[in-house]
Amino acid sequence: MESWRLRMERALAARLPQPTAVPARLHEAMRYSALGGGKRIRPALLFATALTLGLSEDEVEAAACAIEIVHVYSLVHDDLPAMDDDDLRRGRPTCHKAYDEATALLVGDALQPLAFQWLATDPALPASPTVRLRLIDLLASAIGTFGMAGGQAIDLAAEGKRLSLEEVEDMHARKTGAVIRASVLMAAQCAPDLAPARHADLDRFADAIGLAFQIQDDLLDVIGDVATLGKATGADRERGKPTHPALIGIAASQERVRRLHAEALAALAAFGESAAPLRRLSDWLLSRQY
Ligand code: IPE
Ligand code: IPE
Ligand code: MG
Ligand code: MG
Ligand code: MG
Repeated sequence: MESWRLRMERALAARLPQPTAVPARLHEAMRYSALGGGKRIRPALLFATALTLGLSEDEVEAAACAIEIVHVYSLVHDDLPAMDDDDLRRGRPTCHKAYDEATALLVGDALQPLAFQWLATDPALPASPTVRLRLIDLLASAIGTFGMAGGQAIDLAAEGKRLSLEEVEDMHARKTGAVIRASVLMAAQCAPDLAPARHADLDRFADAIGLAFQIQDDLLDVIGDVATLGKATGADRERGKPTHPALIGIAASQERVRRLHAEALAALAAFGESAAPLRRLSDWLLSRQY
């Protein structure tokens, strides 16, 4: 994970517009938000899937950058006063605190299209024009109203309301699960000979990991530590967000994460030893403290 993190830092730094180019302040804010922090777990999932399928990291690096940059955009907007109103992100002031709200809106606006440009043009992607279109479609679906943006809308509308566990899980699947699923399926899309049954296995794996990841995030908001997390704790409760810990308590939430983890691993069974990178990454993701 550390080598993937360093690779992503280099890859994003090289691809993002230089801070010397006009409009300098916007480019600076984009680099401030995207570089120097974050676990890079969506790229890690994409790389681990690629290795499982016999692809190299070089081949899928542009897809990893695309997924991470839309994630960064979603965080910049998620932290705005109109949304979660958070001041701390990745151990530093949030984008709108370090710059201003209008700049944070524009950072999101400007990061999002970069993802699609990289998918359309990166020469190293092992992708025919048809595969590139599929990658673009996968990412677009993952961040639209049936994915991340829709999930965020449901999240905001749910503040102070009581949702059923089923409704909370549907919200999680959209706001977080969809982008995590795209991380895995974009790598799968780059392996054209993948059997449909194995593609379906990866889809099941990603759904389980994605949901478990957001439950773990909600747990860390309750039991985590600000300095380790690099973001506020207790924020979900303060804003009245319906979460697993709020609905069923900490122990039952942890048990739900364990069950989903087991489901995710079971979905990888047919890959045998080749899925070792995905298994190890899943073990880390669902026992993480930050
Ligand atoms: C935080 O994601 C937002 C969620 C979808 C839960 P991460 O926990 O992956 O945040 P970074 O990228 O490491 O900062
Ligand atoms: C964010 O979920 C999901 C996104 C699409 C960004 P949270 O609001 O729980 O993420 P954090 O806790 O602020 O990182
Ligand atoms: Mg939020
Ligand atoms: Mg938030
Ligand atoms: Mg959270």
